[in-house]
Amino acid sequence: MERVVTVPGAPWCAAVAGRWLELLDARPVARLCLATGSTPLPVYARIAEAHGALGAASVLLLDEFGDLPADEPESCDRVLRRSLIDPAGVADYRSISVGTPDLDGECRAVDGWIDTGPGGCLDLAVLGLGVNGHVGMNEPGSPVDGRTARVELAASTIASAQRYFEGRARPTWGVTVGLGDLLAAREVWVLATGRDKATIVARCFESPATAEVPASLLQDHPNCTWWLDKPSAGLT
Ligand code: GLP
Repeated sequence: MERVVTVPGAPWCAAVAGRWLELLDARPVARLCLATGSTPLPVYARIAEAHGALGAASVLLLDEFGDLPADEPESCDRVLRRSLIDPAGVADYRSISVGTPDLDGECRAVDGWIDTGPGGCLDLAVLGLGVNGHVGMNEPGSPVDGRTARVELAASTIASAQRYFEGRARPTWGVTVGLGDLLAAREVWVLATGRDKATIVARCFESPATAEVPASLLQDHPNCTWWLDKPSAGLT
């Protein structure tokens, strides 16, 4: 069952971070899988300010772009380190090495990271939302039981990623934690803000659950929360 939290007045990020801190209080050793992109950054800033909140937690990077220059500051790893991992401090952080010659081995090692958690699953997946309904880099048509894999990006994802790289790179593929592990997480949050996301947010609720709109599959998740501001909820 999905729960939708629309945050109308107070800062959206304060509501999300507040609930996250409660969750960490109850389960300090949580194993988290975290998105980058621009949407979660204000939330991460709040969590980072709550010194020590993530000190016993373990964090897995949700996805990473392929073929970026080695010093690219907007790689998913660099963004997550800068916004949360470094300022907050965590017990364990697992990024995804997309440059390794044994990419399949790297994907299986990420699966292994997930499998070693209690119950063999993630405690909380914090996801953004692509304008085509992707979560992580699981594009429309991705296998619902998929695990960590190299994936080709949809044209809309390639275009929309340009705002991160400002012409320095144009990644067409990446590695992502698969839908199977995201749907199996004990708890899933989808964060969406801004009017640009209103159409796809509505579609995720109005369409039947289908892999053609990956985030719509969360309709069947037992503990999923959508954190929406008013524009992404279509209320302004
Ligand atoms: C990107 C990433 C996702 C991210 C999403 C939304 O392509 N692969 O993990 O959550 O698209 O990004 P943003 O929050 O910048 O809109």
